[in-house]
Amino acid sequence: MKPGLPLIRHYLQFKDFRAEEYAYLFERAAIIKKRFKNYEKYTPLVDRTLAMIFEKASTRTRVSFEAGMYQMGGSVVHLTTGDSQLGRAEPVEDSARVISRMVDIVMIRTYEQSKLESFAAHSRVPVINGLTNEYHPCQILADVYTYIEHRGSIAGKVVAWVGDGNNMAHTWLQAAEILGFTVHISTPRGYEVNLDVAGLRSADSFKVFKDPLEACRGADLVTTDVWTSMGYESENEARRSAFADWCVDAEMMAVAKPDALFMHCLPAHRGEEVAAEVIDGPQSVVWDEAENRMHVQKALMEYLLLGRIG
Ligand code: CP
Ligand code: NVA
Repeated sequence: MKPGLPLIRHYLQFKDFRAEEYAYLFERAAIIKKRFKNYEKYTPLVDRTLAMIFEKASTRTRVSFEAGMYQMGGSVVHLTTGDSQLGRAEPVEDSARVISRMVDIVMIRTYEQSKLESFAAHSRVPVINGLTNEYHPCQILADVYTYIEHRGSIAGKVVAWVGDGNNMAHTWLQAAEILGFTVHISTPRGYEVNLDVAGLRSADSFKVFKDPLEACRGADLVTTDVWTSMGYESENEARRSAFADWCVDAEMMAVAKPDALFMHCLPAHRGEEVAAEVIDGPQSVVWDEAENRMHVQKALMEYLLLGRIG
């Protein structure tokens, strides 16, 4: 950052914020959600513009950021690799310098975390991670908020992760360390989490299980994700056979706590990583989880642009 520019905060990984900042964001998300449900106008971001840059596909991230920004009185610019100079090899540093002179906040969905970090390092405005190969912090923000809405504090609870050691898994691990819960993680051999990417201070907040059923035993929340994340499609076939036993089914839910919730960041593939009877069953909160993306991200944008309210 150049001298003289105000201090800016980015949200590039879950561990960029402290536990007390999350407590504040969850409080704000609840207030903002209640206003939305009551059709109460709340427009603190009038004249502010969000640039959204998508190098990978999206439904939820696009709609939640775009609708959320308009609801708060601001406006949105939507860019993709194909329709911008990003797809014609303009350096990410130059894109950051230019875009951040014209807008107030930027959300990026891209491949390597290093690209997002380069953008942030050359941006004059806050940058939010809308998913990278390594992390998906906005999703876990929504997931933890959804857990709290349904069951109260997540501290001391057990979250079972069944599936790929991917961007979602790394972010759950970071959240567990910051918010004081435990992740039971079960991945097929060869698809383990990368602990360097997770970047934890200790190994106290997670346990590794070979058998996905054992990971679910006694869990307060069972969660999974697609077998093949965006960008890894060439591995599709190998993953299909490696992940065959990592399908969250009724048997896995039966060994979790009786009041355990099921979450999935979506999009989901019924019959692959989750059985239809689980995702469409009574323990599933996936639609609340998806909706909450918008409420928590409104709280996040408010915090990054205006700081604490009141
Ligand atoms: N969960 C999630 O980020 O969904 P999209 O890929 O649709 O944005
Ligand atoms: N792990 C998935 C999440 C999609 C929201 C992916 O990166 O494709």
